[in-house]
Amino acid sequence: MAPAITSVSKGGGDVNFPAKLTKQVVVCSIIAAFGGLMFGYDIGISGGVTSMDDFLLKFFPDVYEKKHRVKEDNYCKYNNQKLQLFTSSLYLAAVVCSFLASFCCKKLGRKRTMQMAAAFFFVGVILNAAAVNLPMLIIGRLCLGAGVGFGNQAVPLFISEIAPAKYRGGLNICFQMLITVGILIANIVNYLTSNIHPYGWRISLGGAALPAIFLGLGSLLIVETPASLIERDQTEEGLRVLKKVRGVEDVEKEYNEILRATETAKKIMHPFRNLMKRSSFPQLFCGTIMQVFQQFTGINVIMFYAPVLFQTMGFGGNVSLLSAVVTGSINCLSTLVAIFGVDKIGRRFLLIEAAIQMLISQVLTGAILATNLHSTNAIPKLYAWIVMFLICVFVSGFAWSWGPLGWLIPSEIFPLETRTSGFFFAVSMNMICTFIIAQAFLTMLCHMRSGIFFFFAAWIVVMGSFAAFLLPETKGIPIDEMNERAWKKHWFWRRFFDYGVESQV
Ligand code: BGC
Repeated sequence: MAPAITSVSKGGGDVNFPAKLTKQVVVCSIIAAFGGLMFGYDIGISGGVTSMDDFLLKFFPDVYEKKHRVKEDNYCKYNNQKLQLFTSSLYLAAVVCSFLASFCCKKLGRKRTMQMAAAFFFVGVILNAAAVNLPMLIIGRLCLGAGVGFGNQAVPLFISEIAPAKYRGGLNICFQMLITVGILIANIVNYLTSNIHPYGWRISLGGAALPAIFLGLGSLLIVETPASLIERDQTEEGLRVLKKVRGVEDVEKEYNEILRATETAKKIMHPFRNLMKRSSFPQLFCGTIMQVFQQFTGINVIMFYAPVLFQTMGFGGNVSLLSAVVTGSINCLSTLVAIFGVDKIGRRFLLIEAAIQMLISQVLTGAILATNLHSTNAIPKLYAWIVMFLICVFVSGFAWSWGPLGWLIPSEIFPLETRTSGFFFAVSMNMICTFIIAQAFLTMLCHMRSGIFFFFAAWIVVMGSFAAFLLPETKGIPIDEMNERAWKKHWFWRRFFDYGVESQV
């Protein structure tokens, strides 16, 4: 069996190495997971803030004016490139920084990379909370994006490396769980600060300092992962830490596995070029497209712009912010279904079931808005509540499927030699697509009107079909046997493993 090496398997492999779930592992994982909280808080905070009048008046006075103009078209009230840039700039910075972070993780270690994430994040929070003009606000967002880029690369890697193999999958989805907790906290904070005038938005944006401080200070206490130490030639220290985190003396087997994996990794001079081999195409395609699909479910339209969307439907400011708290809670609770279901019912079932659920909800939402929400009217209250219910149905489907599995599947389908580089592609694709949605949604809403929901519905049909026909089931397959047991047996992808035509690198 090939040795395991990266975020998803380094130090884990599929051998049952002797290990206890030690206090060290639990505490270190919780501290690291504050990175997820940081990310989630950011996702959740911008939507609420951009619907607050005080904030709009200060930075986007034209949007404020449009919003309060009775005659303004419902669908176009918030269409403003700069407003979208406020939300999207973070993801642009995150794409660039996750690339840099992948090098820092390797050269400086996971712990140091997490500290850098916290530092960037902290600077971003200060700039945002104290912002006096738009450039200061956007520069702050860019710093937050750098924090997210560094954090999202290092934290999952750290948790997977520190966790004993049999807790690895569950702990991976716990990272997503903390993202949803972060979103929910942000929604609640927005709801509470919206009545504090004129600086409630500063408290909302400043609140992000807390997870950053916890991550920053906490990361002083945590250990570096054994794999990262060994990778950087600190083998003795690596062995000492391994014994400590596993809570047993008998770690020789795992230690040797890490050593072997590190040696193999060092021999691979061009991990990115390796990814261009014909036999890498199935994993690269499926891993990357999972992230594209995750974003084109339209989830972040809800996460970023739910309050704006609800205001568009005629709810008052407070009800709109409260509704975001409701969707945030559903998002968080439904993730539990994934944690407990993914290894029992399987990935494909969850993905296909959720696609049907999300499709119905998008189509009905589109139909209700198309018939009831015109340019300048307010939608009848009953319909507005039905739309809110449908959005909850949509969010719950996402939360137990394309949300966590969008991250889990790319992390488990690559073979050893392309795992890190392949996973990097998936992470960047997530950030790029998030950027596109964040930047384009309000303009698309203005031009496509209720048709936007049919646009996402069409994507959901495509992704549901993909899960049904093209995605192999990976439930219960040891990570290093994925090629043999999933890809080479798949009715379509097996043709890429015809060694006669394997191109050489
Ligand atoms: C996605 C985010 C999304 C969040 C919602 C994550 O998996 O990557 O873009 O906002 O789920 O819970």
